[in-house]
Amino acid sequence: MGTAPSVTIERIAGALGAEISGLDVTAELDDDQIALLRSAVVEHKVVFLRGQSYATEHLVRLTHQLGGHGDTPFLESMPEHPGVVRVVKERDEGGLNFGGAWHSDWSFQREPPAFTLLWSIDVPPHGGDTLWSNQELAFETLSEGLRSTLEGLDVVHSAGWAYAADGVLARTAAGRSMQINTSDDALAEQIHPAAPTHPESGRRTLFVNPTYSVRFDGWTAAESAPLLSYLYTHSTREAFTCRFRWTPDTLAIWDNRSTQHNALNDYRGYRRELHRTTVAGSAPQ
Ligand code: SIN
Repeated sequence: MGTAPSVTIERIAGALGAEISGLDVTAELDDDQIALLRSAVVEHKVVFLRGQSYATEHLVRLTHQLGGHGDTPFLESMPEHPGVVRVVKERDEGGLNFGGAWHSDWSFQREPPAFTLLWSIDVPPHGGDTLWSNQELAFETLSEGLRSTLEGLDVVHSAGWAYAADGVLARTAAGRSMQINTSDDALAEQIHPAAPTHPESGRRTLFVNPTYSVRFDGWTAAESAPLLSYLYTHSTREAFTCRFRWTPDTLAIWDNRSTQHNALNDYRGYRRELHRTTVAGSAPQ
C-alpha cells in the first residue's frame, strides 16, 4: 500500500500567492483535503496547482466541493456544462483580451463569487501571465484616517462599462472568439461597503476596482473620481502583487473577496485557452 504524498505550500511572492504540490485535483478530494485547499486559498489569496491534467468533469466537481457554482452573467457557458466558461483568445485575434484590466470577479453582483477557478489548457510559450493584488494589504497600508473614512463608505458597482450594449466589450467585439452577450442589464447597480470584513479571515479588505466600481454611494461620479483613482493606484502597487507564468494543466484558485487580478495581453501570435468557473459567495459586509 502506497503512502499519500504530503502536501507542500510554497509562497511565490511577498504579498500573496502560493504553489501547492502533493494534491491531485484530478481525483476526488476528501473533506480534509478540501478544508486544507480552502484555507490555503483564504490565507494565500491565490494558489496554483501545476501538472493537473484538465478535464471539465474535474473542474465541475471541485467547484461543487468548494461551495457550488456562482451565477455567471454575460458569458456563454459550455453548452453541456453550465457555469464553465472557455476563456480563449486565438493566435490571430487582436484587440482586447478577457479579464485584461484590474478587477474582482463580478463585484457588481449582490453576492459576488467567493472564489474563481481557472484551469489552463493551451498557453503561450511566453506572455499571457496573470497578476493578482492583495486587497487586505492594500487596506492595511492606508493611513488610519483614510481607513476610518472608508469604513463608513459604500461603493456603487455596475457591469455597465464592460458589458452594457454600448460598453467596451460590445465596441470591441469584431473578431473576438469568446462569446460575450453584452446587454443593458449590465447597467444595474449594486452597493457594497468600501472596506468589508472578509467572512473567513476576519480582516478588512479594500473592495473597489476600476472595472466595476462607479462612485461612492451618495457622492457624484465627479466627487468620487479623485479618491477612487487614488485607491485604484494604491491597491495595485507592485509590492502588493504577484505575477504567475502559466504552464498547461495548471489550476489557479483565487479569493475574490481579498484580491483583484489582471490578465496580461502580450502574446499576439499565440493561442491561450483556460476554463473558468466561479464559486458562489455572500454579500460583502
Ligand atoms: C479572468 O479575469 O477571469 C481571466 C484571467 C486570465 O485569463 O488570466
